[in-house]
Amino acid sequence: MGIECRLLTVFCSALAIVNCSSTLETVVEPSLYLERESLDAALLGKWTRSCALCHVNGEAGAPIVGDTESWAERLTKGEEALIESVIQGINSMPPLGYCMGCETDDFRSMIRFMSNTST
Ligand code: HEC
Repeated sequence: MGIECRLLTVFCSALAIVNCSSTLETVVEPSLYLERESLDAALLGKWTRSCALCHVNGEAGAPIVGDTESWAERLTKGEEALIESVIQGINSMPPLGYCMGCETDDFRSMIRFMSNTST
């Protein structure tokens, strides 16, 4: 998975150079583009394939990435409780949020990323 991501980055960089594109940053660094608490490439890949499906457009009432207000409300439960919700699933969110390969620490980083908090 890590290698796959790195290969993709190399491929995209090569493509951008071939196209003389000036959008190299947005191609290789989606986290920069989002201007949020950044995730490393591997984690961002996991997030894009799972959490993003619902947390980008607020599917079934999911708190939207970067919507600090709704996330602040959720965070009053405490970060550990939120991680537990992801692991167990809550209402319309399936257990593990579709990320079968995610570790507890991955969820922690993803929650910080989505809520735009760094602590
Ligand atoms: C199938 C859609 C879906 C996917 C995929 C999904 N979520 Fe969610 N998520 C939701 C919905 C819907 C809610 C709101 C649940 C509620 O409170 O009713 C939610 C709520 C949450 C909450 C708040 C939980 C709470 O206790 O308030 C966290 C944290 C969260 N998601 C993290 C994640 C993470 C991390 C991933 C990826 C690993 C993920 N979600 C993937 C739909 C999804």
